[in-house]
Order: sequence, then structure tokens, then C-alpha cells
Amino acid sequence: MCGIVGYLGDQQAAGILVEGLSQLEYRGYDSAGIAVLSPSGVKVVRTVGRVRDLQAALPKRLGGKVGIGHTRWATHGPATEPNAHPQASQDGRIQVVHNGILDNAAALRESLTTAGVTLSSDTDTEVLAHLIARSPAKTLEDKVIEALSHVTGTYAIAVLSADHPDRVVVARNGSPLVLGIGEREMFIGSDVAALVRHTSQVVHLDDGEFATVTRDGFKTFTADSIETGKTPEQIEMTAEELQLAGHSHYMYKEILEQPSSVERMLRGRLDERFATARLDGLQLDPRELRGIRRVKVLGCGSAFYSGQLGAALIEQLARVPADAEAASEFRYRNPIIEPDTLYVAVSQSGETADTLFAVREIQRKGGRVVGLVNVVGSSIARQCDGGIYLHAGPEISVASTKALTHMSLGFALLALALGRVRDLSFTDGLRIINGLKRIPDQISEIIDSEPHITTVAKGLAGAESLFFVGRVHGFPVAREGAQKFKEISYRHAEAYQTSELKHGPLALISETLPTVAVIPDDELLQRNIGAAHEITARRGPLVVITHAGVDLGNLDAERIDVPKNEPELDPILLTIPTQLLAYHAALELGHDIDRPRNLAKSVTVE
Ligand code: F6R
Repeated sequence: MCGIVGYLGDQQAAGILVEGLSQLEYRGYDSAGIAVLSPSGVKVVRTVGRVRDLQAALPKRLGGKVGIGHTRWATHGPATEPNAHPQASQDGRIQVVHNGILDNAAALRESLTTAGVTLSSDTDTEVLAHLIARSPAKTLEDKVIEALSHVTGTYAIAVLSADHPDRVVVARNGSPLVLGIGEREMFIGSDVAALVRHTSQVVHLDDGEFATVTRDGFKTFTADSIETGKTPEQIEMTAEELQLAGHSHYMYKEILEQPSSVERMLRGRLDERFATARLDGLQLDPRELRGIRRVKVLGCGSAFYSGQLGAALIEQLARVPADAEAASEFRYRNPIIEPDTLYVAVSQSGETADTLFAVREIQRKGGRVVGLVNVVGSSIARQCDGGIYLHAGPEISVASTKALTHMSLGFALLALALGRVRDLSFTDGLRIINGLKRIPDQISEIIDSEPHITTVAKGLAGAESLFFVGRVHGFPVAREGAQKFKEISYRHAEAYQTSELKHGPLALISETLPTVAVIPDDELLQRNIGAAHEITARRGPLVVITHAGVDLGNLDAERIDVPKNEPELDPILLTIPTQLLAYHAALELGHDIDRPRNLAKSVTVE
């Protein structure tokens, strides 16, 4: 979603701001803008469309060594130039960029209008610019504190003032904000991706925290103006990891990265001596692990489906009741929080507002939450009481692939650790460890069958609508397959339990509605094949994702074979072909694969 950048130093700000914004493009946006403090006053350039449109619109000479920038994902008001950020006070001397949503913006707009202020956009952010400009406080810092005391909602903001040309004041509440520390220069970003080309020293702001940023450094403080000492952290991400490295799409690059990223993730975490997983970050000793009576997984979208896959793994290996729930629904049903339940928040970005709020709701009621999170230092990672970092590396494509595989593996490790303090035998623990060690090569094997998967995908791309079906452990695979397909092909793709087909959806089967069926080599094989015949008997085109060596008899279907692993781990591998199916179908349809319409990489609003 929206992105923030800022710069203060000796270089020309405009170029650095635009470059930072382009690093944030993956988050999703529909307009962009910058404000630079030039010697002749504040200069603002905003455009609807891409960052490259903004770059093209910049005047030849836009001098100024302090500036802020923004990519906006429309919430209050459509994507238009007046609604793009920065938003300004009436005299233009205060410029604000903002991520998040101000809940009471409508009421504040009304009182500003009554007070004679003419608002020139539909945004909630503009309200903030006027409130800061009209604040009776003396310093810019106090004006920002005072203005924010009138608003409710979530925000990360950066404020530029023509009257205080040496500084940018920033604040955070519910939306991430990071400061990057350079040599006599400072950077501001809503995401470390915006800073990583310039520095590896960062400071994450906490909720309720403010900072004054100058070219020489920063000072953080609370709303009561009490200083909060912060120690800079070293980030591991490198600028190279954010490049396409010769690939045409990030999604494709990220699919191909999986064999090596998975190997890296597992390294050091498999304990063959005790046939368990080494998960120090969980901060749970064996006695605490043993005391867990139930596991509840919370995530959104694909992370939720991966949570369903993970809950099944936990039940199988640890025999602890486990289920997954959409984090976006959780806190609105006044959930019962149990002391001996382990809550697991799963998220690639670590910034998904729905998941973050679910974590806070659990903690508010005294529950313990651990995170399965990819982005180090993200809000969810920091909020949780412990966790397992996914170490998938940066994921830029909006459609998540490698991070989901890493989530599933994170659940496998957690299930192993929970199982080994219960009844999972040493032999079975070792069987799972050996299965996990085979996964990188088996993913490579699936990727090697890409030419065949491409042909199948092209066949599916023409359908307006399609089903993805699976049973029990194959159902989360089908859900994720349908999700990925619809996200980037814009085709209607719906997931069903194979067993439910005859209870309704079978009525839709015809030669124009293909089905992708997940049919693993397991105890339901013959039943799954039977259901598949019911589809082909009604002339439904069929693609079967199955295990090499499975005899499908005379079933009239295209098949995609996946190597067999241990039954508990098979769903992880069965998901991989669905990534390539979605990718190649979208490619065939000529869609913007890395930036699907209407979607954002990091959904930081509810
Ligand atoms: C699917 C997808 C979304 C995310 C969801 C959660 O490809 O990208 O459904 O999985 O928005 O995002 P994170 O994992 O960042 O919490």
C-alpha cells in the first residue's frame, strides 16, 4: 500500500526521493508525489500513475537537499492529482505525507470548513496539514504533537515545513516508519526497501513515537516530549536482492529462488541428534511447549491458507488440536482467549493491519502469540512474544509464492518441535527431518517440469471461470491455487472440497469450466479419482496435480506430477505447480504480473 520516503543531506533530494519511491512500487499505489525545500520555497510535483510518470513530470532543475515523497493507494477519494500526497496547508508551507487512515477525518473536515478553511482534496491527510499549520504551538514538533492529539486512526507521517528548513518531523501509530542513518545524511522510509541502497543502519519507530530528523541525525520522543533513546539496528537485506536479476518478473524470480531460499531457511534449524527443530526465537522451553493444549493460527489471504496447511501439520505431528482463522474476522467476534493456547500470527510483510490487530487483541486478553514472519523488524514481528523468522528474503511480487512455502516450512518446524515434546517418536522425527532436507531438490524437480506446466496453464488461461478442488490436506493447496490464479489472471477461480462437488457445484461443470484437482497419493486416492470421473463425465476439462507413479486409470485429464515426500509434507510440494500455473496463465493473458490491479503487497489498513 502507500509508501513514504524522505531525505535530508548534501545530495539533491528529488532524485533520491524518486529512486526510493521506485523501490516501494511493489507495495501497490495509484499516484505519487514529492515535495522538496528548494532555495526559492517548497516545490511540489504530483502525478497519477507510476513513479516513472512522476519522474517525467519533474522540472529539469529541482534543487533542494531536504524533501519528502509518497506513493498513494487511494482510500479517501479517487486517484487524482489533488488527492495525491504530499498534502498541504492553505499557504503550502506545511507539507505532509501519510500512510494509514484517520477515522475521524470527516468530523475534522467539517470543523475546519466551519472555521473558514477551504479544503482542496478528498483526503484525510489534508486535514492533518491544516491542523498542523493552525496549531498554536511554537515548534514544529509541538505543532505535530498537538495536531495528532485531535485525530484517531492509524498513521505514519512525515512533515516538512518551509519555516523549519533543517528538519522533517515524523510520527508513527499503527503504520511502519524507519529512519536510515547515513554519513551526514538521513533517510526516511515506510519500508527498509526505500533505504537499503544508501545505508544498512536503521531505527524502527514504535507506535506513539515521534522523531525530529535533521541531516546530522535524529531525536525520538513521545507525545509528552520525553526523549526515547533508540539504538540503530543493522539490516541484512541488500540492494541486489531487490533487483530482477535478469528475470522478467519478480514473481518468476521468487518462484525460482525457492530451492535455495528453503535450504537457507532450514540450515541450522534441524536437530538430528534429538530429531527435533531448533527454534530459539520462539522463546518457549520444552516445559512450556509441552503445556500447550491448542494452537490457533491467524493470517490473511494466502497466509491464512498456509495457516490451514500448518494447522493440519501440527495436528498430524504433535496431535495438538489446531486450526486457522482469517485474522481479519477474529477480533470482531469477541474471541475467547485461552491461557494454554499458543496463538500463531503468520505474515510475509509483518505489516498486515488485520493480523497485527488480532495479535494485539490476543495480548490484551493475556494470550501468548508467536509470529511466523518474513520481514525482520516488522510490526508483527516486534509485537509478538517470540517467533520464527521465515528468511525467504525480500518478496517483491504482490502475489506471494516463496514466502508461503517458507510459512509452510515454518509450521513443519513448529509441528516437529511440538511433536517431539509429546508422542512423536525419534524415528518419526527423523523421518520428517529427512523429508524436509529433500524439499529443495524436489522443488527444483517441479520447476524443471515448467515447459509442461506452461502448456497446461495456457490451456486454462482461456476459461472465464475454473474450480480448484482438493480434499482434507489437499484443500488448503486448492484454496491457495485458486487464490494465486485469480489474483493475477483476473479469472474467477474458486476452491472447493472435492467431496462437496456433488452437493452443489457439480451443476456448473461443463466443457467451458475447467477444474484443477489436487490428487495426492494418499488414502483418499481412489475416492478422489472417482470424483474426478464425475467431472470428466460432464465434459469438464480436468488438470490433475498428483504424485509421480500414481495410476489414474482411464481418467481423461492433463496431469502434473510432483515428487513424493512424507505424507505430512506433501501439501507443501503440491502447492508449487499452482504458482507456475498462475504465473504462466497471467503471462499468456498479458497481465501486469507483479502489480495486479486493485491489490497491494502490504495491506496496512483494515
Ligand atoms: C496472496 C497475497 C495476499 C497476502 C495477504 C497477507 O498472494 O499476497 O493474500 O497473503 O494479504 O499478507 P501478509 O502475508 O503480508 O500478511
